[in-house]
Amino acid sequence: MIIAIDGPAASGKGTIARALAKHYGLAHLDTGLLYRAVGRAVLNQLENDNLEQLALKAAEELDESQIDGAALDSTEIAMAASKVARFEPVRVALRQYQREFADQPGGAVLDGRDIGTRICPDAETKLFITAEPEVRAARRVAQFKAQGIDTVYDEILAQIVTRDKNDRQNPAGAFYLADGAHLIDTSQLDIEAALRQAIAIVDGTVEHKMGRGASPK
Ligand code: C5P
Repeated sequence: MIIAIDGPAASGKGTIARALAKHYGLAHLDTGLLYRAVGRAVLNQLENDNLEQLALKAAEELDESQIDGAALDSTEIAMAASKVARFEPVRVALRQYQREFADQPGGAVLDGRDIGTRICPDAETKLFITAEPEVRAARRVAQFKAQGIDTVYDEILAQIVTRDKNDRQNPAGAFYLADGAHLIDTSQLDIEAALRQAIAIVDGTVEHKMGRGASPK
């Protein structure tokens, strides 16, 4: 079983993806980390005229299995990731790994921006997790605070709004509600409630497919 999860920054998609993977015993890939790793590799060269070539080289040389998520958790790296994610060759270089990860025996949960639309268009279940930008900004501030990092709400909100816009308008991306995707708005939900909704959707999809498979044509 493949579960494809898309959504904007701090929508809760990562938390839901990890929890679903645990619940169903599936492997999990946070695909944003791949773009963040490439973004970090070119962090000091973002204004370079050859940024696309530099980012492509970083993407091709990336050892995806060695990525350290904690080291990539900063707004600076997130903005750099969003910048390199606009280069189609970079996306292509990262695609193979994501597809192979999804196709592993037993299945997988992947979360990102184009999982249901491009990486796994045939996934059994597709979720699109979203929330109001203000709610997402408040969550990010709280997450950073829990790590002992002080941030300014207005700055985080501005970064989230900019990144949403860049990602939605990314000419190389495919960040929109995929065909057959189920929308979960977590603005008014705590994580338990959001997860219950997600599990109900996945269980419903599986039952529906099994039921359909068993019924006479
Ligand atoms: O999900 P996360 O916030 O870690 O992603 C960082 C950036 O990487 C996003 O803002 C987006 O520009 C890019 N990204 C993407 N496609 C994905 C995952 C992330 O373009 N599948």
